[in-house]
Amino acid sequence: RKRVVVFISGSGSNMEKLAEACEAPDFPAEIVAVISDKPDAGGLLKAKARGIATYALARKDYDSKQAHEAAMLGLLADLAPDFICLAGFMRLLSGDFIRAYAGRIINIHPSLLPLFPGLDTHQRALDAGMRIAGCSVHFVTEGMDEGPIIGQAAVPIVPGDDADALAERILTVEHRLYPATLRRLAAGEVRMENGRAVFTNRGTDGAEQ
Ligand code: GAR
Repeated sequence: RKRVVVFISGSGSNMEKLAEACEAPDFPAEIVAVISDKPDAGGLLKAKARGIATYALARKDYDSKQAHEAAMLGLLADLAPDFICLAGFMRLLSGDFIRAYAGRIINIHPSLLPLFPGLDTHQRALDAGMRIAGCSVHFVTEGMDEGPIIGQAAVPIVPGDDADALAERILTVEHRLYPATLRRLAAGEVRMENGRAVFTNRGTDGAEQ
């Protein structure tokens, strides 16, 4: 089974869904640790309750972004992950960090990328008058939310939606998409090659209905 480390900053509901999926005996990955840049992230308690090793490395405990990342990289060297899943991790990783795990870091973002990268995505989708929204799982590259897309799921936007209602609807499909995507990645059905997501299995084109 592939070794996975999950990075979080918040409530960790996606992390929990990944952990749940990993409990199935035929799932090709296991979560070996959860790392948070926020010591009070609710997801840390959820991970602990599941018996997963947790680490909190607060940015403010380090003099620079470089020192903070060096500490995370040191920890990762011991954990020896095959893959890193960013799940509500709200910090932009440097090029050096990303290159150290090239093609092995994935992220979930609550929009249909390449639309609405960055913050405040739900409100921006509403303001743009979109009639659908969704989420994307992508390989992490240096540009924010710019890496090759592995999987997406869509939801309708309905009259009366506000950002919270939309976020909640998208989160329910995130919870299915992220484990399904990790399964494909860990099973070797998709990899990053020349800046593209390359699928090796027919029928696994990354679209979730
Ligand atoms: C999720 O909606 C995730 O897509 C989003 O934060 C939420 C985390 O929820 N991520 C980003 O906005 C990344 N830029 P969770 O902590 O309950 O999984």
